Amino acid sequence: MEPFTLRIPTEKEFKQIYFFITEFELDNRDLKKEQFIVALRDNELVGFGRLRDHTDCLELCSLGVVTSYRRQGIGKAIVTKLIENFSKNIYLVCIIPDFFIPFGFHQVETFPVSIQNKIEYCTSELIVPEPYVAMLLPAKRES
Ligand SMILES: CC(C)(COP(=O)(O)OP(=O)(O)OC[C@H]1O[C@@H](n2cnc3c(N)ncnc32)[C@H](O)[C@@H]1OP(=O)(O)O)[C@@H](O)C(=O)NCCC(=O)NCCS
Repeated sequence: MEPFTLRIPTEKEFKQIYFFITEFELDNRDLKKEQFIVALRDNELVGFGRLRDHTDCLELCSLGVVTSYRRQGIGKAIVTKLIENFSKNIYLVCIIPDFFIPFGFHQVETFPVSIQNKIEYCTSELIVPEPYVAMLLPAKRES
């Protein structure tokens, strides 16, 4: 597999992210450049993901890999980078729970208000046949 770079996007890359978020019908609310990690191959943007800091939790969202680059480990590398060194519970809302289980996420039925709001946004604005589920990666505790 060819190598790729992971880092915070430039302004130009941030505009590209917005384009792909629209194309993939992902969460496009309150986007901030600093919340994102991009994956680049030969200076070309091939993937992105976001860790959003709500007042009640962190949320992993707006994750996407450019279609022709999927199934090459890029999504996995972006998620691994986003969740390293986290100090708060990380939640997400998705339709592909199997993708997130290997990172330590598990499905939950209770969650903070911001995640409840996210589920309501997804089910009303991002309509898909599959059910949306909430997942949690608990914060690492000091031993
Ligand atoms: C979901 C997505 C980010 C995965 O990116 P990717 O670069 O193709 O994923 P990877 O190649 O890193 O896959 C990592 C592992 O997850 C598996 N996987 C990939 N896509 C999957 C899916 N849709 N469902 C379940 N498992 C999946 C791979 O087989 C791989 O398994 P392995 O480690 O055992 O080999 C990408 O398909 C995408 O952008 N989809 C459209 C947008 C989207 O659905 N975003 C998620 C919103 S929550």
